[in-house]
Amino acid sequence: MEVKIFDSTADLALYAARIFQNVIKENSAPVLGLATGASPVETYKELIKMYNNGEISFKDVTTFNLDEYCDLPKDDKNSYYTFMMENLFNYVDIDKNNVNIPDGNAADTDKYGEEYDKKIMNAGGIDIQLLGIGVNGHIGFNEPSESFSEGTHKVKLTDSTLKANSRYFTDSEMPHYALTMGIGSIMNAKKIVLIATGEAKAQAVYSAVKGEVSPNCPASILQTHNDAIFLLDSAAASML
Ligand code: GLP
Repeated sequence: MEVKIFDSTADLALYAARIFQNVIKENSAPVLGLATGASPVETYKELIKMYNNGEISFKDVTTFNLDEYCDLPKDDKNSYYTFMMENLFNYVDIDKNNVNIPDGNAADTDKYGEEYDKKIMNAGGIDIQLLGIGVNGHIGFNEPSESFSEGTHKVKLTDSTLKANSRYFTDSEMPHYALTMGIGSIMNAKKIVLIATGEAKAQAVYSAVKGEVSPNCPASILQTHNDAIFLLDSAAASML
């Protein structure tokens, strides 16, 4: 696992976007694994700039998002579907038929999860996966637990995650469940880029990078991936 520390979050976002740009350019049908939350927003802005400058096209790109809340209408302002449209997809030339975001309202979540993972496989697997990290070390919505999960599945959100994300749900109650790609689905990605900024992430980053590989800190599994990089600002890296 490689770790790179940046003085400015703008430089970090540009660096992350350049990694994505290379993958998009090197592959005739790139498959991107995408994330939501505050961490990737600036990176998406850089990718939009690159698209506007004619440096990249999303015409042949397929995307798979990590996760989505359950029991929230797809077009709710807090859904990850809305987030992706508003922060990336509405501003680039992606074919929306090639956009995949877990359906948090699927009736049979076990069956749906299996189909989602099959779809990733049939697309040739994820070339590059973008990740944020929760303050408790979660990736996607894979919360600390007793074992690493495999495929896409439904999870009950922990109190820590409910607390961290409830800031977005100002006029409605935050869902308590979500669908998430599993640790197995994430680890299958050929390349992984994790972004973490701010002091609140310092402990999670420390456990992920320096702690033992344990499902208590799901992100620690990334130590065993052969092409994973953590892009950090100095506050998130302050305990390393
Ligand atoms: C959320 C998402 C994760 C995200 C993480 C950090 O709960 N499910 O995919 O990486 O928490 O979010 P943020 O970047 O807003 O700190």
